[in-house]
Amino acid sequence: MQYFAQFVKSIKGVARGRGKIFIKRRPIKDPTKKRQTLANRRSVWYNHRMKYIDVGGIKASKLALGCMRIADKPIENIARLVSAALDIGINLFDHADIYGGGKCEQLYGELIKNRPSLRERMVLQTKCGIMSGRYNLGYNHIIESVEGSLKRLNTDRIDILLLHRPDTLMRPEEIARAFDRLERDGKVLRFGVSNFSVMQTEYLQSVVNQKLYVNQMQLSPAFCPIIDAGINVNTSSPAAVDRDGGLLEYCRMRGITIQTYGTMQCEFTDESGYFYSGAFTTDAAKKKYFALNFCIDGLAQKYNTTKEAVAVAWILHHPANMQAVIGTTLDRHLTDYKDCCEVPLDDREWYEIYRAAGHTLP
Ligand SMILES: NC(=O)c1ccc[n+]([C@@H]2O[C@H](COP(=O)([O-])OP(=O)(O)OC[C@H]3O[C@@H](n4cnc5c(N)ncnc54)[C@H](OP(=O)(O)O)[C@@H]3O)[C@@H](O)[C@H]2O)c1
Repeated sequence: MQYFAQFVKSIKGVARGRGKIFIKRRPIKDPTKKRQTLANRRSVWYNHRMKYIDVGGIKASKLALGCMRIADKPIENIARLVSAALDIGINLFDHADIYGGGKCEQLYGELIKNRPSLRERMVLQTKCGIMSGRYNLGYNHIIESVEGSLKRLNTDRIDILLLHRPDTLMRPEEIARAFDRLERDGKVLRFGVSNFSVMQTEYLQSVVNQKLYVNQMQLSPAFCPIIDAGINVNTSSPAAVDRDGGLLEYCRMRGITIQTYGTMQCEFTDESGYFYSGAFTTDAAKKKYFALNFCIDGLAQKYNTTKEAVAVAWILHHPANMQAVIGTTLDRHLTDYKDCCEVPLDDREWYEIYRAAGHTLP
């Protein structure tokens, strides 16, 4: 009897009823369904992996969340957005003193005030140097800007500080003094630049005492002059114009991380001649970027993921080891990006996306 009870217990799906023992029939296996199930499971435990890079000892996620567009969002929405970001492994949050006139940093400051434990899970990056009608990389402005960011963000340190744009009137010795003071006071841990050309970066690096770890640049399949110039070198194509001095190769050589912004952005005009700048996945932009959308849709199906993840994977696949800063303000959009580090694009597919965006090869 004891063995019989053990036997009954060991059969999966056993149910008792009206004094009889019923053994549930197992459904007949459908091989296609099994494949589907495995693919789904794969997307649950395989695709959610975030990858990280080392920024001078700071572990920063390859996918970062940009905070430029959140100024008019309610704090509850931002709390949900940040929570969704942390859930998928994002830890790098990109700000600037000017985003929303300071409101974007302030909203994060409120979040941190309400939940101080959030701060230790975040790598906070901010920028300085843009003012109304001018650029300013003077000593006083850098120091004042950082003090303001610290206050608004409600934190004692900025993890990474970027100079937002080059200032033709910059005096690198002043920047060096500002960096030294901010580092000595523990107010900034690591430094970098944004929208700087090769020579501007090299010049600044020759004067400051800290390594410049990051250069943040606009890059998407629809907008990639830093890639076009290298592909079209030695041709008379307008795409061959090198506007930044071979930045891609320079950053690879010097171990500077290119952080990309505007990952989903493009420029297009509608029938009335009205000019737009927006995401290439929107219905309005799909006309001009039909081939690009068709291509990334196909790859998204192939890899059982979303087109947003494929668009970011195109950036992350490049061996320059870039980080992608995305700027969605909605937690439901953010989760569309969660697979981006795991989409196994190959080099052929990378070129397919490049060409589908309208770029040609010589
Ligand atoms: N260093 C610089 O000079 C510089 C310049 C610009 C930006 N940045 C940084 O880079 C970050 C990202 O830039 P970005 O905001 O231009 O990036 P983005 O991710 O290319 O664009 C975000 C915008 O596209 C929309 N979007 C994204 N995916 C979409 C989809 N599938 N369907 C419809 N709309 C979609 C978002 O709308 P929803 O909010 O509705 O999702 C949002 O308005 C900024 O937040 C900022 O931190 C730096």
